[in-house]
Amino acid sequence: MGLDIFLDTANLEEVRQVIPWGIISGLTTNQKIFLREKGADFEGHVKALVSLVEGPVSIEVTPSGTRDFVDEAAEYTSWGKSIVIKVPVADGRALNTIARLEKAGIRTNATALMSSSQVLLAARAGASYTSLFFRRIQDCGEDPEKAVATSRAIIDRVGFKARLLVGSIRDAEDVDRAVIAGAHIVTVTHKILCNMPYHPKTEETIREFDHAWEEFNRSESRPQEDLVEVGWKGG
Ligand code: E4P
Repeated sequence: MGLDIFLDTANLEEVRQVIPWGIISGLTTNQKIFLREKGADFEGHVKALVSLVEGPVSIEVTPSGTRDFVDEAAEYTSWGKSIVIKVPVADGRALNTIARLEKAGIRTNATALMSSSQVLLAARAGASYTSLFFRRIQDCGEDPEKAVATSRAIIDRVGFKARLLVGSIRDAEDVDRAVIAGAHIVTVTHKILCNMPYHPKTEETIREFDHAWEEFNRSESRPQEDLVEVGWKGG
């Protein structure tokens, strides 16, 4: 039960702005998200993110061909205890990486998942988080709500420790859909999050009430004898 909301960004200003709201309990990044921070020193930037967020910060490993995933993951986790290693799952090698990292005490986030079958295998390999990509699932003509609901049912039924994280959220309605379908966590961009508390009718209502309050404060106080006595009179 319960719901966690993570921020899907690597931008320090966005993080600084939203953290005081008191609703964020983690952060997710990926290579595309980091591209927006072009020119930043990667290690310094990750450490700054970690210092701002109370909760897991997911950093993705990238198969470069020259470097072992586990070595790369060990370097990243040496930068902060809250760092979680995102492992994209497309084959058995990725599952093996998850199993090795978790056995070594490094928490993993199995990512780029588009089906409940991938969630099942990643959870079985020991992943701490399994990330389903909501709109990307919809983009390929499949049903993202079904993928979330089935994945959650599998996790609950088996008792896997994995938490179901839903990313690739493109609007506020996706957040509702993912949560209702069974996400433990939704990761949301700064833009979507900032739009969520806004409603034009709320703005209009607040203005109306503010004007009423100004008018109330402008009105002269009524003489005592005009006041109607209220309250319980007994009897
Ligand atoms: C989060 O973990 C994902 O990396 C992110 O939400 C993917 O979003 P996108 O499909 O908009 O790239």
